[in-house]
Amino acid sequence: MNLVLMGLPGAGKGTQAEKIVEKYNIPHISTGDMFRAAIKDGTELGLQAKSFMDQGALVPDEVTIGIVRERLAKPDCNNGFLLDGFPRTVAQAEALENMLSGLERPIDFVIHVDVDQSILMERLTGRRICKDCGATYHLVFNPPAKDGVCDRCGGELYQRADDNEETVQNRLDVNMKQTQPLLSFYEEKGYLRKINGQQDIDIVFADIEELLGGLRK
Ligand code: AP5
Repeated sequence: MNLVLMGLPGAGKGTQAEKIVEKYNIPHISTGDMFRAAIKDGTELGLQAKSFMDQGALVPDEVTIGIVRERLAKPDCNNGFLLDGFPRTVAQAEALENMLSGLERPIDFVIHVDVDQSILMERLTGRRICKDCGATYHLVFNPPAKDGVCDRCGGELYQRADDNEETVQNRLDVNMKQTQPLLSFYEEKGYLRKINGQQDIDIVFADIEELLGGLRK
């Protein structure tokens, strides 16, 4: 099962990715998570990515394509993968096509979690994430049982550095401009499947499960 998850910042990609990888047992490849891990570890990649992420801009294509190429070549991707937040530009999508044709692993579906841009500021500024296991919550839409504490592992919840109003607005603007053309790119290839992301989290997942039913490989 070779999947790509697309959607504007805050559309619910990470939230649905957690559920998809648990059910279908495929690795979750999130470029955003990889960059954040590199920043935390103080690596060269982290240093390169940080200034772009802090402004809500995209990390340059050559850097991003390089880390995905390395990741997809790892053996745990042999039975499939879920790409989350990659590709985000037509250049990245073309590079991905080349990588996958080399590995003989074509994309099954590009799942577009579709939401209206107007609801995303509230979703992102209210998001909280577990420091230990990475589980995602929302202060209003998906609150933890105990304030500031992860239901799953008891870890402390934090707010991402780029989830402030100014940076969120930049992320939305950049994505509308650079990422939206990808929808036509994948529509023309016949991979694109739209899911309504403005429903309850479990209903969004049920729609994804229905789409993926029968695809098991
Ligand atoms: P990345 O980490 O990928 O962030 P993003 O695309 O901005 O997406 P988010 O993680 O913010 O949102 P999401 O869709 O996962 O939403 P979530 O499920 O958490 O990228 C960060 C940065 O890294 C980029 O700005 C860029 O600089 C760089 N980068 C990454 N990939 C790159 C690439 N390919 N090229 C270049 N640069 C790259 O949900 C959000 C909130 O809403 C949560 O609180 C959640 O609980 C809540 N929620 C989710 N679903 C629902 C629902 N159905 N109803 C109500 N609330 C919901």
